Amino acid sequence: LTSHYTLPSGDKIPSVALGVWQAEKGEVGMAVQAALKSGYRHIDGAYAYNNEEYVGKAIRASAVPREQIWLTSKLWNAFHAPEDIEPVLDVTLANLGTDYIYMYLIHWPIAFKKEGNYVLDEALTANPYPTWQKLEEWVDKGKIRNIGISNFNIRRIQNLTANPLKYKPAVNQVELNFWNPQPELLKWAKEHDLILEAYSPLGGSNEVGKTLSQPVVKSIAKELGITPAQVIISWHVQRGTIVLPKSVTPSRIEENLQIFSLPQDLFDKLEKAATSHEPHRTGNPSNRWGLDFDIFDD
Ligand code: A2P
Repeated sequence: LTSHYTLPSGDKIPSVALGVWQAEKGEVGMAVQAALKSGYRHIDGAYAYNNEEYVGKAIRASAVPREQIWLTSKLWNAFHAPEDIEPVLDVTLANLGTDYIYMYLIHWPIAFKKEGNYVLDEALTANPYPTWQKLEEWVDKGKIRNIGISNFNIRRIQNLTANPLKYKPAVNQVELNFWNPQPELLKWAKEHDLILEAYSPLGGSNEVGKTLSQPVVKSIAKELGITPAQVIISWHVQRGTIVLPKSVTPSRIEENLQIFSLPQDLFDKLEKAATSHEPHRTGNPSNRWGLDFDIFDD
């Protein structure tokens, strides 16, 4: 299985990352250090995860040179206004202890007003191009190497890419797992040279147990002599996506980096099992954010 994907910029991005969403402040540093020691060179974080400072400290405390580690961060919804981007990007860069970031994503296709909590900015939600243009500017000025999106469905991607973009989105980071495998989005992305990144790849903390105890997953693990988590993580890379398993447990962190090419018949069996039940998302903040629409609606 591929260890890296090549992005439109020519940069090579490692196919497996440590995800740090929901990694607590008190444990994320240890997790990052364990990951770097195990050989991870890709950490997927975000301003909104409230732990970037601890990720940065752990990187500085490690023996791994900063430029060898692929760091991704994300622009939070309250900072989509073009003039708000640089200050919040600078906070992320300072927290991470770097003067440029490998990848910066628009975290959600939803813009909030900066003042007031969770007040929708309708104009910037309907049209993300002004936000994108400012990100393109920061690519040209060297603070960002690659730009991408997260949680965009096909309609929202097309709404963005209908503009005369200088740089196309390098990736779209979305929920992908056994319960929500999104085969149509994956097919469309491949046809459009857009790499997907899988968050909650094991099903997230609520459904990981259910995922790893699926008979099909267990039987493939047994047949190949690998763990159920390795079956699922390998399946993601074999589908052609980047995969971002989250763990704060050193033994699991190490386990999750070892991926194996699944024989075609076993891959097909797992793909079929994942795509032949009614899909459901493990996460959708539309209600929690008080939106009167579903973020993922086509
Ligand atoms: P923990 O962080 O306590 O190790 P996802 O990546 O889909 O969001 O899933 C994250 C959840 O899966 C966390 O609860 C994490 O627990 C758990 N997890 C991560 N890796 C493994 C593994 N190899 N085996 C079992 N559970 C795992």
